[in-house]
Amino acid sequence: MTNTPSVKLTSLSHKGGCGCKIGPKELQEVLQNLPTSIPNNNVLVGLDTSDDAGVYQLSEELAIVQTLDFFTPIVDDPYDFGQVAAANAVSDVYAMGGTPVTALNIVAFPIAQLEKSILSAILEGAKDKLNEASIALVGGHSIDDEEPKFGLSVTGTIHPGKIRTNTGAKPGDKLILTKPIGVGIMTSSLKKGLLSEKEIQLVTKVMTTLNKTAMEVSQSYDINASTDVTGFGLLGHLTEIAQGSDVGVQIDYNSVPVLPRVHELAEAGHIPGGSKSNFQYVEKQIHFAESLQQIDKWILTDAVTSGGLLLSVPGEEAISLEKALRAKEVDASIIGEVTENTPGKIDVTT
Ligand code: CO
Ligand code: CO
Repeated sequence: MTNTPSVKLTSLSHKGGCGCKIGPKELQEVLQNLPTSIPNNNVLVGLDTSDDAGVYQLSEELAIVQTLDFFTPIVDDPYDFGQVAAANAVSDVYAMGGTPVTALNIVAFPIAQLEKSILSAILEGAKDKLNEASIALVGGHSIDDEEPKFGLSVTGTIHPGKIRTNTGAKPGDKLILTKPIGVGIMTSSLKKGLLSEKEIQLVTKVMTTLNKTAMEVSQSYDINASTDVTGFGLLGHLTEIAQGSDVGVQIDYNSVPVLPRVHELAEAGHIPGGSKSNFQYVEKQIHFAESLQQIDKWILTDAVTSGGLLLSVPGEEAISLEKALRAKEVDASIIGEVTENTPGKIDVTT
């Protein structure tokens, strides 16, 4: 946090959300109908799958991972907003198993209406987060815009044989999630002034935590599928794994870590529209235990910013990985497993 002018940054933002490679579902439908690009054998991960980032092979040993994310302010403190935006943008490289190396800033800012120090603080937060991840900031672009927006394009490197996608989950795998969910409900409550300072700090900490440690620890394990939980919510991203891998997924509602007070805030009606539309997109693919209420279902589809990694790991390695992650202070939990029943579908049990 920094001492900057008292502008409620989130009051300037109308829409948020991140959908990894190409954005919210409604827009994704349009973008996916783009004329297919010229076939290129060097494109290892492209537009045809809903993965976290694109991957392009440069040589036998080397490929680059490319991703881009930006959004409107999700917290009021500009320095924290910069940190969140950077941790979120970098995450898609970690989700693919890559090592981020360079980044470019994407800036939209109402330069006549807001003090320049606010933008400086946003950029400072992002720069500090990039330094923490040993990523070089190499440029960027800015425009004058009514509504502030900030994000980054990040490039990483990876061995072409070590790419992690969301399409390799195998029956018998366990699913590990490395951060709690409920971020969308918390941040929309923050915007309405409903969170205590302590709660704001907690949700900010979750969003500014890099997925670097989680990725590095998991490198000693056989990860069959990987993604990060962001705009489509836990069940949205799980559906992509189930459909992409042609497997069934079973998750235990009570094993899914949820931020404190999320249930109470959701019951009071503070659920973002995006989280509700996520539910509508995936509900046909999901069987919910009778005991689950609509509120619980919305929590599972709550849109997340800068969420954790979701890893599909062989069953016999799962407990060891969970322990290794926790030993490095990653808030990891085994939330379910991959099955051969009902490919493409998810069963939520209690
Ligand atoms: Co993303
Ligand atoms: Co992603």
